[in-house]
Amino acid sequence: MKFFVDTADLKEIKELAATGLLDGVTTNPSLVAKSGHANFVELIKEIAAIVPGPVSAEVAATEYEPMLEEAKFLAKLAKNIAVKVPLTPAGLKVCRQLADQGAMVNVTLCFSAAQAILAAKAGAAFVSPFVGRLDDIGARGMDLISEICQIYANYPQFETQVLVASVRSPQHVVQAALVGAHVATIPPKVIRQLFDHPLTDKGLAQFIADWQKSGQKILG
Ligand code: G3P
Repeated sequence: MKFFVDTADLKEIKELAATGLLDGVTTNPSLVAKSGHANFVELIKEIAAIVPGPVSAEVAATEYEPMLEEAKFLAKLAKNIAVKVPLTPAGLKVCRQLADQGAMVNVTLCFSAAQAILAAKAGAAFVSPFVGRLDDIGARGMDLISEICQIYANYPQFETQVLVASVRSPQHVVQAALVGAHVATIPPKVIRQLFDHPLTDKGLAQFIADWQKSGQKILG
């Protein structure tokens, strides 16, 4: 399972990239605004230089012509850019055009299996179903992930990877892995929570205490 980090915060990205566990980055207009960075294009170029894996940069236009122009521009910023487009008729039309030209496209704001089938037919490299936002309205977000994974498995010609987004907890990551999603894009806070377990802390403290009692050293 690939781990992408869901943030536009350069400090967080640098720190997590250093762990060697990061396979990519996803941003969106809200995360870019939150980062406080004054120049979106420079920010995306910096992120793409830090993480060699796919870096999602989202269009802002909603109509086909301007969206296609933005998408083509973003795709050229770096080799590892995945252009993010919304799951709308204009977004999928742009997706098809870019995919036919060999560009990576991440189709975002997916909330149904029907939408995910359209994204795959449009040649998306990734589809981003938002688990947390479905949970927020009392739906079962992970059921959608399971449905999409089952549908995609029926059609080997579909090359679209399921990129679980709107991840809110370590449980979302585990459940996404259990149903076979290809990627989870995870907020920095949740990535750090993945490491945590009280028994690990307790066990390590005991190992260190017992080692110190032995009076021995590993290195001279
Ligand atoms: O990648 C999409 C993600 O950033 C949305 O997350 O928590 O705003 O639903 P959230």
